[in-house]
Amino acid sequence: MRRLRLAIEASGEIVFTTDANGTFTYVNPEFERAYGYESSEIVGCCTPRILKSDSTIPAEYASFWALLKDNHIVKREFLNRTKQGALLHIETSANPIVDATEQVIGFLAVQRDVTERKRMEAALRESERRYRTLADAAHDSIFIINRRRQIEYHNDVHAKRFGLSSSNTIGKQLTDVFSGDTAGQIERQISVVFSTGQRQLFEERFTSAQGELWLETWLVPMLTDDSEVRAVMGVARDVTVRKALEGQLLQSQKMEAVGRLAGGIAHDFNNLLTAILGYSEILRDRLCDAPDVLADVDEIKKAGERASRLTRQLLAFSRKQPMSRQIVDVSALVADVHKMLGRMLGEHIELSVVAGRDVCQVIADPGQIEQVVVNLSVNARDAMPKGGRLTIATDIAQLDDAFVRRHVGANAGSYVSLSVQDTGCGMTPAVLAHVFEPFFTTKPQGQGTGLGLATVYGIVKQNAGYVAIDSRPDEGTTVTIFWPMPANDRNASVSQATSLPHPVGGSETILLVEDEQPIRALMRKTLERYGYRVLEAQDVQDALALGARYPRDVDLLLSDVIMPGLNGPDLAQRIVAQRPGLRVLYVSGFPNSLLSEHDRNRHRMAFLAKPFTPEALAMKVRECLDS
Ligand SMILES: Nc1ncnc2c1ncn2[C@@H]1O[C@H](COP(=O)(O)OP(=O)(O)OP(=O)(O)O)[C@@H](O)[C@H]1O
Ligand SMILES: [Mg+2]
Repeated sequence: MRRLRLAIEASGEIVFTTDANGTFTYVNPEFERAYGYESSEIVGCCTPRILKSDSTIPAEYASFWALLKDNHIVKREFLNRTKQGALLHIETSANPIVDATEQVIGFLAVQRDVTERKRMEAALRESERRYRTLADAAHDSIFIINRRRQIEYHNDVHAKRFGLSSSNTIGKQLTDVFSGDTAGQIERQISVVFSTGQRQLFEERFTSAQGELWLETWLVPMLTDDSEVRAVMGVARDVTVRKALEGQLLQSQKMEAVGRLAGGIAHDFNNLLTAILGYSEILRDRLCDAPDVLADVDEIKKAGERASRLTRQLLAFSRKQPMSRQIVDVSALVADVHKMLGRMLGEHIELSVVAGRDVCQVIADPGQIEQVVVNLSVNARDAMPKGGRLTIATDIAQLDDAFVRRHVGANAGSYVSLSVQDTGCGMTPAVLAHVFEPFFTTKPQGQGTGLGLATVYGIVKQNAGYVAIDSRPDEGTTVTIFWPMPANDRNASVSQATSLPHPVGGSETILLVEDEQPIRALMRKTLERYGYRVLEAQDVQDALALGARYPRDVDLLLSDVIMPGLNGPDLAQRIVAQRPGLRVLYVSGFPNSLLSEHDRNRHRMAFLAKPFTPEALAMKVRECLDS
């Protein structure tokens, strides 16, 4: 008995006894510590009530007592009150004490204070709730997969993204929930975390319920107390838009670089072609009586002309094509081109033109817009060898901020849209990535030069527009061009047609400045053939000296734009100062580059793009002198 008492006193549990009426007969030291009463205060009192808080329902308490008195062991949880008034969560096991005749003569209760455990459970529940809310509110998808590759958790975003329903995916195997490819991809990613124990970042494309997605996924190991990787938590962000923009940016930088290269080559070629075409012309004149040699010279000339057409296209691509600017009604222009297109496309293609209701006016070179329509229509025709439908539509379009944010190179504003849609073979993403590059073609040798879309791109860029292509294999292609609408207050200068049927010569004096000797010699010869007197200078210093020395009138300054040292416009300014009334004609392989609107207006100046034929030079010179 004494040993039993010692054990009870040393135990960490609260122990007390009462008589049959509930009067305390014994309390152990743990009771005193937990409730704050001295043994002497409580023994002899009938005090279950002082242990009662207001939170115990009377009926429950009554049933507890009834069971006890009926000789049952009763286990219950109570919320009791200490002497100081604090509340204690108590787990109670109450046992009736019986005498030899099975009469209940008292009770023994063993209690445990579970207040701290209860508090922790509540805190855990609260924390769980907090994280679940956080995970469900996130825009990222969040998931947990354990070592056995079971899905332990995923949030709503993850469910929506992969078309899962939470109720029947939790606890399932990865491979039972996701398609083979996706499961394989996730497996590859998480196995790195399981094997290294390190967090990992992946950026990969997934096929999801929402289509193709680029996901940036952080995978974090979840450790056991022994620091083993128990599971992997993933947080995946949709970076599809960012990826697309990065791709577009790279693309536009590439086009910029290729454009510079093409422009540079075209410029140098123009000089060479001017010489080739010019000298073959002169040779022709001289060889009138040697018809067999003449045929050879004609071949040279023809090849030169082909090369010159190619160079012009390259210039268009690098946005250096000379252009006249005037008000163009795109719908009207398309209607005009319609007839010509019909013949070009052939019977097997059904062509329809849909003009928007509004007036679709832009300021542009009508020749360029025509070129765009023709290039796109020819591509559409080639994509529909077995026939199909080609629809050309014009309309007014607004590009808003949302569009601009998703399309590198687009600017917000009002545009005239011109779309060319076909029902042809369409393009794979791999082809789409290259279509604007000069010389990119999928057509057999000799059938395509790959300059069609490059030219379209250059023209559109030159006009501060935007071009979009929507194409999928076997689903046809729509190319849409957006031409900026003119600001209301700007009046387009309408250029006049300036074709003279035959070049006419004259006897005026022309100061010719050109640093490339073969071209200078060619121009001199041409001008002299047309009767002009030519003063020849190889650079600006030379020209200034000549201008100062020459005693008689000079009527025209004919000068290259770009030369070593001072350039054409600078020279013009100085010479015009010496000789007011002098007219200026520039030639260059880089039509618009160095000449600002200001330069053009300052001296009644005209411009001739290289390469030019001797006739074109003669006509332009006459036109300048007569203007
Ligand atoms: N409407 C279209 N449908 C399908 N593929 C197209 C379409 N337009 C262009 N392409 C693809 O883009 C490539 C480049 O087109 P682009 O017009 O620049 O050159 P090309 O037509 O091959 O040659 P070129 O126009 O110089 O004769 C084509 O070879 C073709 O593969
Ligand atoms: Mg083409």
